[in-house]
Amino acid sequence: MKHLPIGIFDSGIGGLTVANAVSKYMPYERLIYFGDTKHLPYGEKSEDLIKEFSKNIYYFLKEKKCKAIIIACNSASSIAYEILKKISENIPIYNVIDPVIDKINHEYNYKTIGVIGTKATIRSGVYKKKLLEKNKHVIIKSLSTPLLAPMIEEGFFNQEISRVVIENYLKNPGIKGISALILGCTHYPLIQSEIRKFYSSKIKILNSAEIVAKYIYNDLSNLNLLNTTSKSTHEFYVSNYTESFEKSASIFFKTNINLKEIKLAI
Ligand code: DGL
Repeated sequence: MKHLPIGIFDSGIGGLTVANAVSKYMPYERLIYFGDTKHLPYGEKSEDLIKEFSKNIYYFLKEKKCKAIIIACNSASSIAYEILKKISENIPIYNVIDPVIDKINHEYNYKTIGVIGTKATIRSGVYKKKLLEKNKHVIIKSLSTPLLAPMIEEGFFNQEISRVVIENYLKNPGIKGISALILGCTHYPLIQSEIRKFYSSKIKILNSAEIVAKYIYNDLSNLNLLNTTSKSTHEFYVSNYTESFEKSASIFFKTNINLKEIKLAI
């Protein structure tokens, strides 16, 4: 079992932030990444569709003999985690939300927490629900920021266009007065420095990639599933080939990526 790969999926390049952190914490693991670029952005899709896309990717990763699957997308984590957990018999499924909730609960004592994410994630209310379950006194201010993921996917970050879009969202009165901000979308670590700049580094920015990787490292070692020896190359798949994806993946993993397009059921 230990030598089998870990499957990771997202709608696009956002999950690479998680994949990158996973490969840093677990350097001997082989990763199989799937970016559902044909259906991006997930944040704008209905719950039924997000569940359908996620199930298809789950079956693809299962066929690839993955020993664990990471839903490296907040929208799919909010909507499809329960269903994937139900259909996966003995493959552990991880979402990118619970590790963050866990960390906040154990290590911090914020009174007012902001959450930004896609429409699907914010509409699901999952962060609010899970944070309030742990601490009923905390105040949650959520804001959907639907332009950010497509903007990042198109390579617009660390430049004037992204600065203006980010500023326009974050100056919304609905998200004022927070002491921490959860980046509730796996694309957002790519604009973390711009978000930090907006707040002049005065608030804590919670980026799930590292938190999730640490959490999974601990869990896989408890399950005795951690690969600690040989390493082989990762595999990258998308449902619709784009050069920009291949380029971003190569930058993330500092090596040339051979990106393959694969057609799933829908
Ligand atoms: N990276 C995905 C997330 O974390 C979403 C982007 C999208 O496809 O809308 O929600």
